[in-house]
Amino acid sequence: MKIVALNGSPRGTASTTLRLLEAAMEGAEEAGAVVQYFDVARHDIAYCTGCGTCYASGSCILEDDYADILAAMEGADGFLVASPVYINAITAQLKTLIDRMADVVHCQKFRGKYAAFLASGGGGGTDCVLGYLGEAWQVFGADVVGGAAAVMAEGEDRFAAAMDESRALGEHLVEAVATRAAYPEQEAFHEGMRERMTALVSAHRDEWPSEYAYLRSLGWIRE
Ligand SMILES: Cc1cc2nc3c(=O)[nH]c(=O)nc-3n(C[C@H](O)[C@H](O)[C@H](O)COP(=O)(O)O)c2cc1C
Repeated sequence: MKIVALNGSPRGTASTTLRLLEAAMEGAEEAGAVVQYFDVARHDIAYCTGCGTCYASGSCILEDDYADILAAMEGADGFLVASPVYINAITAQLKTLIDRMADVVHCQKFRGKYAAFLASGGGGGTDCVLGYLGEAWQVFGADVVGGAAAVMAEGEDRFAAAMDESRALGEHLVEAVATRAAYPEQEAFHEGMRERMTALVSAHRDEWPSEYAYLRSLGWIRE
């Protein structure tokens, strides 16, 4: 089982969020997964220009580290995604990666995969991060397993508890992948996305041959 772990903090090994993520990664590894970690801010990832080439060809025209990270994500069974709170949101570095993924949305490429999220904030705002990341990965097609967060102002005991919660979350993610855990309320959302994306890509059949072929390969488009 493969898990891709992403940290959106620009602070490298000084990152507090990384401590939570490392606890979750350890939990996942102890439960039997192989984890591939990406320090997102240390990678060369350019802004999406909205050119739409990926819709047509299935790949991005920008030559940077995105293709390798996408390949790892496509090969993963699950995700641990982490960000500090930056003005009640995720960091720009992580958002820049996410914005490159519109083709993943159209093709619902993360269907059947699972995701869990981690956040740290100085005084609050972690719900904004966990909520946004959950929505993003659901829009990619993944099932959300849960989240864990630490607010630094709440002190060391609370941080220690958040570390324990992060480790348990990593284990829980692996269990969800292994058991193919079902979330009926999320399934209804995914079904709506399948219908919407099938209609969208069908309407652009001539401009987006790659996405059209992909959804046909899933059996979602039959003609
Ligand atoms: C640019 C910037 C914006 C921030 N915005 C918030 C915020 O809106 N709310 C908050 O509680 N903490 C905020 N913080 C504090 C960080 O979320 C907090 O220190 C976090 O633990 C840093 O994680 P890291 O060490 O993984 O980078 C901000 C920090 C920076 C540098």
